[in-house]
Amino acid sequence: MKPQLPESMKTLNVIEILVRKRDKIELSTEQIYWLIERYTADKVPDYQMAAWLMAVQLNGMTRRETVDLTLAMAHSGDMIDLSDVVPFAVDKHSTGGVGDKTSLVVLPIVATCGVPVAKMSGRSLGHTGGTIDKLESIRGFRAELTPEQFKNIARKNQLVIASQSGNLAPADKKLYALRDVTATVPSIPLIASSIMSKKLAGGAQAIVLDVKCGEGAFMRTIDEAHQLARTMVDIGVDAGRRVTAVITDMNQPLGITAGNALEVREAIETLRGEGPSDFVELCLTIAAHMLIASPHSPVQNFEEAKTIAQQAITDGTAFNKFREMVRLQGGDPNQIDDPTLLPQARLQDTIAAPKSGYIAKIDARQIGRAVVDLGGGREKKGDPIDHAVGIETLVKIGDKVEVGDLLFRVHANDEDRLAMATGWLEQHVFEISDHPVEPQPLIIDTIIGKPQSF
Ligand code: URA
Repeated sequence: MKPQLPESMKTLNVIEILVRKRDKIELSTEQIYWLIERYTADKVPDYQMAAWLMAVQLNGMTRRETVDLTLAMAHSGDMIDLSDVVPFAVDKHSTGGVGDKTSLVVLPIVATCGVPVAKMSGRSLGHTGGTIDKLESIRGFRAELTPEQFKNIARKNQLVIASQSGNLAPADKKLYALRDVTATVPSIPLIASSIMSKKLAGGAQAIVLDVKCGEGAFMRTIDEAHQLARTMVDIGVDAGRRVTAVITDMNQPLGITAGNALEVREAIETLRGEGPSDFVELCLTIAAHMLIASPHSPVQNFEEAKTIAQQAITDGTAFNKFREMVRLQGGDPNQIDDPTLLPQARLQDTIAAPKSGYIAKIDARQIGRAVVDLGGGREKKGDPIDHAVGIETLVKIGDKVEVGDLLFRVHANDEDRLAMATGWLEQHVFEISDHPVEPQPLIIDTIIGKPQSF
């Protein structure tokens, strides 16, 4: 519930708020709501908000301040109510990685196991991909749905994935753009409140977070990933939601493919029981956490939930659920039945191991950047993208390779870009060691937070 702000708020002023944050004095709930409301309404200029963001970046926020900031941002626009669409809204969010097509597999599994999913997803930005761009590789797929269409498809198929409505957490939209140009993106309370405000505004009652950690992620170290995960779990619990944060490795791409249509193809193969082992393991883990987060799940035990998630792949029901979602959202189901009909790039090239040894490093961030340079991602909002291009990583950290073994396959639609990407991959992306290498485990840690009412 948005708090009723007292009359005294009328006398608040920005400078006093800036002074307090600068001097490490905790802000009141009223001050935080007032600041966010005024900034969203264009009544606080960017230069003052930038000063405030930098003070937060340097001095941090208390748990209570962070929760207030999250709720103030969530309430700055539409608060979506899914109660007439799904009996209990479980959402998932990944903090962003390379080759992360998890939603395409997890959501059909969860929906077919008895927990309906009505989800809003984002597009790609920077080196990480976005679910909506991937789905738009499918001919005719419509991600922009009216609220009526969104609800009807959810009721018919228990699964719908649409792009975010225009007025979801507008304060976050403005603040994120300002953070981007004021060196205030890497602040844990600012990242946590940004992510959680959109989840709360999107109507989630329980949230499963995949907090990526490593070279290809926002959080490079396990310690940072832990702090972000803990902060988001605390925000959710204080806001009355059940939150599970799974910290997972992003030192190498997830699965094999990075690039929109290639990732849809890999997701379809996974739904048919032919997915790469790391990707399957992550999908089953996230699906199981989503299932046990819902009181409507047929099982409440994590291992049992993983078993029914696996069954939904084995018996084909998750694949059918995905195919039906694509059909109901205007997409061509023939491309789901035969993924070779998805967009394919004109050119291909491969990179082979220059020596024998053990794969010691595969830089996921650089692979993500190379996909953007091939045209498969966007530097700024609204840039067009080429769905067909991308990179297949054919080895994993720790694998033993012989000289000449294939490491990468690049898919491009332009000779110059192909040459640039292959040159880059050859020189900057992988290392081969003479000694055996132990990879980081995929699932690093799990934090579960439940409010008293759960
Ligand atoms: N993703 C978000 O939505 N916000 C951030 O601040 C960082 C990642």
